Amino acid sequence: MNNFEYCCPTHVVFGKGTIARLSELIDRNKKIMMIYGGGSIMKNGVYNQVKQALEGFNVIEFGGIEPNPKYETCMKAVEIIKREGVEFLLSVGGGSTLDATKFISIASKYNGEDAYDAIMIREEPIKESIPLGDVITLPATGSEMNNGGVISRLATDEKLPFHNDLVYPKFSIIDPEVTFSLPTKQTINGIVDTFVHVMEQYCTYDVNTPLQDGWALTIFKTLIEEAPKVLSNPTDYDARANIFWCATCGLNYWISLGAVQDWATHMIGHELTAFYGIDHGQSLAIVLPRLLKNQKVSKSKKLAKLAREVFGATEPVDLKAADIAIENIEKFFNSIGMKTKLSDYEIEAQDAAEKVRARFAKRNTALGEKLAITADTAYDILIEC
Ligand code: NZQ
Ligand code: ZN
Repeated sequence: MNNFEYCCPTHVVFGKGTIARLSELIDRNKKIMMIYGGGSIMKNGVYNQVKQALEGFNVIEFGGIEPNPKYETCMKAVEIIKREGVEFLLSVGGGSTLDATKFISIASKYNGEDAYDAIMIREEPIKESIPLGDVITLPATGSEMNNGGVISRLATDEKLPFHNDLVYPKFSIIDPEVTFSLPTKQTINGIVDTFVHVMEQYCTYDVNTPLQDGWALTIFKTLIEEAPKVLSNPTDYDARANIFWCATCGLNYWISLGAVQDWATHMIGHELTAFYGIDHGQSLAIVLPRLLKNQKVSKSKKLAKLAREVFGATEPVDLKAADIAIENIEKFFNSIGMKTKLSDYEIEAQDAAEKVRARFAKRNTALGEKLAITADTAYDILIEC
């Protein structure tokens, strides 16, 4: 196992009726900005629950964060925060709203010219932020218990991740009941995103981390068992709760402690979203099976273990068992209604492969646990998608 350090300062409050806890979790004397997305919280009652919990608090609102949140939108919030002297940010929504809130939290303390350039490209170590908390409404990103975010820039068609320990939420309220209202497509996106987060941290090469691997394999099994339940009965509380906790634990870094990580599927997927606007989960479902085929030899040990422990394979040869794992992952995605080919979204593989290769070549990109995925490898993967 490799050395590691771990410190997640997020106070997790999980379960039914927990939005009411907001009044105890936020300082009543602070000026708060409540940040939300395109209006789902108005329809499912979450907005009213939050307003009720924060009655008598000094709250201003900023709505309109879009899925795959945009830098340009975030900077509008930053302007208001600086003008109004906001002291605490409350994100109410999915991963996009929370990621935007995280970006806004550090961008509000950045006084230079171009916050995107500073935070996402030059990765300046910004040392001040506005504290934030969240009511997370979509199980997918794990953003509620990690220090990362993904922000897109309209002007340049870019979508990039950032990390900063200052953006760990002070608290995250996870009430599975708020997910009853999710559109089926978003439930599916979230399950696939979670599955791929776990793959990115589990499916590399073995450095003897049986506990972390066991957590990963149990998350796969739980997703496979619970997914059909939430899809056939969206108000199945227990299944929604299990899916949500899988999503949170899928990217709170527990399974990657001391292990080796990949993240190439995500980096290629981000480009597909940036160029063609497809959802994050959709982009991952397209890339993952082909990337695994391309990298099968180097990942065969972990793939074989997955085939045997999750999909019940009895094949003794690792390379053959690896094929079984890859086939079953794609079958699982298809079985829950997730499409896995570029052509399903009317995207030409040739066009995507060329665009991503050109961008990665310009950036000198090398991805994956062995940095084996170069611009040319990304081309080879996408041409098969
Ligand atoms: O915007 P509103 O109106 O709120 O509607 C949203 C949005 O249209 C809706 N929604 C959310 N909760 C709902 C709901 N509708 C009904 N009931 C609810 N309870 O769902 C739509 C999608 O929301 P969004 O926040 O975009 O989805 P998600 O949570 O999947 O976030 C995706 C973003 O997270 C990034 C992705 O790249 C993408 O930009 N990621 C962030 C990560 C992180 N911070 O660690 C890691 C991930 O790999 C991921 O990259
Ligand atoms: Zn993801």
